Order: sequence, then C-alpha cells, then structure tokens
Amino acid sequence: MKPLLFALPGNEAFCARLTDALGAEAGTLEYRRFPDGESYVRLRSDVGAREVALVCTLNSPNDKVLALLFAARTAKELGAARVGLVAPYLAYMRQDRRFHDGEAVTSVHFAALLSAAVDWLVTVDPHLHRRRSLGEIYSVPAKAASAAPALAAWIRANVERPLVIGPDAESEQWAAEIAADAEAPYAVLTKTRRGDRDVEIQAPPLERWRGRRAVLIDDIISSARTMTVAARMLSGQGMPEPVCAGVHGVLAPGALDALRAAGVRRIVTTNTIAQETSAIDVSAAVAREVQSILDEPSS
Ligand code: R5P
Repeated sequence: MKPLLFALPGNEAFCARLTDALGAEAGTLEYRRFPDGESYVRLRSDVGAREVALVCTLNSPNDKVLALLFAARTAKELGAARVGLVAPYLAYMRQDRRFHDGEAVTSVHFAALLSAAVDWLVTVDPHLHRRRSLGEIYSVPAKAASAAPALAAWIRANVERPLVIGPDAESEQWAAEIAADAEAPYAVLTKTRRGDRDVEIQAPPLERWRGRRAVLIDDIISSARTMTVAARMLSGQGMPEPVCAGVHGVLAPGALDALRAAGVRRIVTTNTIAQETSAIDVSAAVAREVQSILDEPSS
C-alpha cells in the first residue's frame, strides 16, 4: 500500500511535492482552533495499517508542536503501522549546551518530546554544531537531507564568478561543500555573538577575489543579523553587494528589511520554510531520505 502523507497547516505545498516524488497518497487532516485557542485535529483518511508521514516544518515551533503531537498520537491510536515526521526545518537545535547556570538544553528536551511521539524523522540540514548527528539526541531513526547540491546548482545557474562565503566557523561545513560543487573558491569569516541581535564579524583580506560576487551562505537566516553584519563588512572591503543564501529562511520580523537596508538585493532560501525568498526546492532530496526509511522494515 502507498504511504499516506498528511500536511499540517501551512505545509500543503511541500507535502504535495513530497507526495508526488514518493508516489504516495495525500491524506486529509482537519485542523482548527477552538475559541479558547485549543487545537482541534481530525484525520479524515483511514490510517489503519498504513505507513503514515506527517509533514510539518517547525519554524515558530511553539505554535505548531501540540497539533503535531495530537496528530501523531491519533494516527498511532487508530492503527497506523508507523508514523513518521517530515520536518524540513527542525527547531530547537541551537541551544545545544547550558551556556549559563540553570538554562534548559532545549535541543535535548525537544528531541525527547518528538522521539516519544513519532517512529522516525526526516529533516534538512539540522543545525549540528556541538553534536555530530541527530542520533545523539533523537532516539528514533532520524535522517538529514542535504540542501547543498540544490544551493550549488542555484549558484551555478544564477551567479557569475561567485565567491562562496561562510559567515562563521559553523557554516564552513556548508560553504566548503557548496563551493566545491559550484566550482567556486570559498572563504570563512569569524563571528562573535554577544546576544540574539548583537553580532561582530571579522574577515580575512579578500582583495585577491576582487571581481567576484560574494555569496554568503548560512544554514539559518533568523534575525538576519549575521548576514547583515557580514554584508556590511564585505562592502567595507570594497566588494560588490553580496547575494545572501540560506538553507532555512526562518526570517524573524524585520529580517528582510534589515538585509535590504544593508544593500542586499538578492536573498534566496530553500522551501524548507515557505517564504517569499524560497526559490530552491529541496523536496526531491527529502523524498530520497523518506524512501530510505520506508524501505527499512519496521521493528
Ligand atoms: C548560527 O549558529 C547559525 O548557523 C546562524 O548563523 C544563525 O542562526 C543566524 O542567526 P541570525 O540570522 O539571527 O543572525
């Protein structure tokens, strides 16, 4: 039987692409809020003995997680063979240690919450900084698709003489791979973060790449502070205005305006989060990871 995919609200477009790529069946999920703000969830398709996947990207996670947990538990209760989660953007990956006494290490707690609700997880480029793999915190099979080939293809098709730039040491993993794939050189900047919106960036001398167009690459663009400060620093070195490319366009309020005010005209992200900047489709890469899990026998 074909796998059955349900889109949580806002995930319809990505879910439709995934359903096509997998040759799966689209399920119908009804969702609404009661007047008091509580969630109503109803699975209108029969999940009995089916492989089920819930598609729910997890930006603004606090607004989404309860409905997702209710849908997952309901599918299991109604006899689904397995219930997986496709979260193209996986939230709560950045607080991966206790930086100050008493802080919650939310990446671990969030992983425990999701692992208790679903049988497997597929995401795209999770923010793995101090952890090497999702398996260190997720207790269910968890796979990550890579957006790097799609980003590199976009750069090859859209930017002449690119210079790929990672704004901080953490971004080197993406910058190096994407640059190799786009046949471009790359450089990595040094970032010091002092607060949520307080970032300082230093760069090595970039004169040798004059005449190239910088493409700033990061996994997440949230407040856009990292990209904005990096873009200003590049123009301070006499480089033309950079292209900003991110895997996950979280784009907190004011982020795009801040980038434009810094002189950035081209901002591109993947469709892990549907935004006006989402010009790069990664659903095929996600479908491959989902298929590899569905091909594994359930234990
Ligand atoms: C940092 O650890 C990430 O890789 C990104 O650089 C960061 O999340 C970007 O955040 P913002 O857009 O708020 O500077």
